Amino acid sequence: MNIAVIGTGYVGTTTSVALAMNGHTVFAIDHDHEKVEKLNRSILPFYEDGMEEVLKNLVFKRKLSFTNNLNDCIDKCSILFITVGTPSLPDGLADLSFVEEVARKIGRFMNEYKVIVIKSTVPVGTGAKIKKMIENELNKRKLGITFDLISNPEFLREGKALHDALFPERIVIGCETERAQQSMKELYKDINTQVLFTTVIDAEMIKYASNAFLATKISFMNELSRFCEKIGADVTAVAKGIGMDSRIGPQFLQAGIGYGGSCFPKDVSALLALASKENTPLQIVQAASKINETQAEWFMEKVKKALRNLSEKRIAILGLTFKPQTDDIREAPSLKIIDYLIQNKAFITAYDPKGTEHVKKIYPDLCYTSTPLEAIKGADAVIIVTEWKEIMDIDWKNAINIVSSPFVFDGRNALDASTMKEFGYHYVGVGRQDS
Ligand code: UDX
Repeated sequence: MNIAVIGTGYVGTTTSVALAMNGHTVFAIDHDHEKVEKLNRSILPFYEDGMEEVLKNLVFKRKLSFTNNLNDCIDKCSILFITVGTPSLPDGLADLSFVEEVARKIGRFMNEYKVIVIKSTVPVGTGAKIKKMIENELNKRKLGITFDLISNPEFLREGKALHDALFPERIVIGCETERAQQSMKELYKDINTQVLFTTVIDAEMIKYASNAFLATKISFMNELSRFCEKIGADVTAVAKGIGMDSRIGPQFLQAGIGYGGSCFPKDVSALLALASKENTPLQIVQAASKINETQAEWFMEKVKKALRNLSEKRIAILGLTFKPQTDDIREAPSLKIIDYLIQNKAFITAYDPKGTEHVKKIYPDLCYTSTPLEAIKGADAVIIVTEWKEIMDIDWKNAINIVSSPFVFDGRNALDASTMKEFGYHYVGVGRQDS
């Protein structure tokens, strides 16, 4: 099948690559000329392990190409994916202007029946609104052209994006006609997974509910971690014990310094804003969001208390990205931690394998190092913010000889507390007793 994917951000590019790998001929469209030119040379605008090599091969075989020419792709393709960005507005609602602009253009330029698929994360109810917009454009042209509007949300994780796109645990398709259902079945016939057909509005809700539920799971553990510390329990043991119950499941129970990234914070805010607008505030999600906003600060208060004060202390921050295997620093807890340390007049040395360049743009005056050992040299305290392998693999036994004071604050509970104690560190995790 010939497929158009409109918008070459994270979701759009990954979707294009995955569809082309499944044998389709994919035309990915973006209005940014420089981005298109780079993508045609197989240069990704983001870091995703292994994707550039796959992209190179697909571009070479002409299974995937990038272009600015939307009209031409609308003509050539039977299925049109909308994967443009939906950034947050100041009130938390999603900015739909890019989606709307693309929808209007499709309505203006399509000359025969098309399946139009919204993959961008859009507020519940957007599908219906976009359908109307396209109908309005078509009505002006009086050609009697029809189309189907589908919601097919994306659940991919950064760092594992291609794997998630090729081997999803489920595919959700909100679609209201038999004809469109057949097209989508044909499109995904080579992906062996469960496919759930729903209405458009249910598919939109599934996306937000999934992210809000996972965010709530994390915040539940983060709140519990505060209580575990007070009462003498260890949140990691509690997570293990409750996770063995298949009704709870072991994933997303890791307490830490809060969730970040481009999805959870944005989608939670969008869901909350929409629910409030409808006079049905979602109180559990509200609480999850609040816990997340304060978790990094709660952790930093522990750091401050242990060191007595932070003024002029040398603090090493290990990890800047919101999670490992990505260069993404959007909503990363590291940013809150840096702000806290700056306010408390500490000296910061920071290390990250991939995210340094992005953080440098916000905080040009920090000291950035190219190895974790350089960062911890002479430090009064080390804070582990992201559990990169490069950081876990530090020779912690010998590293104690280069730090100034043996304080390690592990914001991800990523290191073994008893081993760190054996090595002589004062080790402080999240929701555990200090050792
Ligand atoms: C998430 C969803 O997993 C994905 O399905 C959706 O499409 C986009 O949002 P992503 O943002 O890439 O994906 O990262 P994910 O691996 O889910 O982690 C999100 C955040 O939660 C990270 O900051 C991570 O450190 C944190 N996290 C995750 C925890 O603090 N504890 C956990 O147990 C799991």
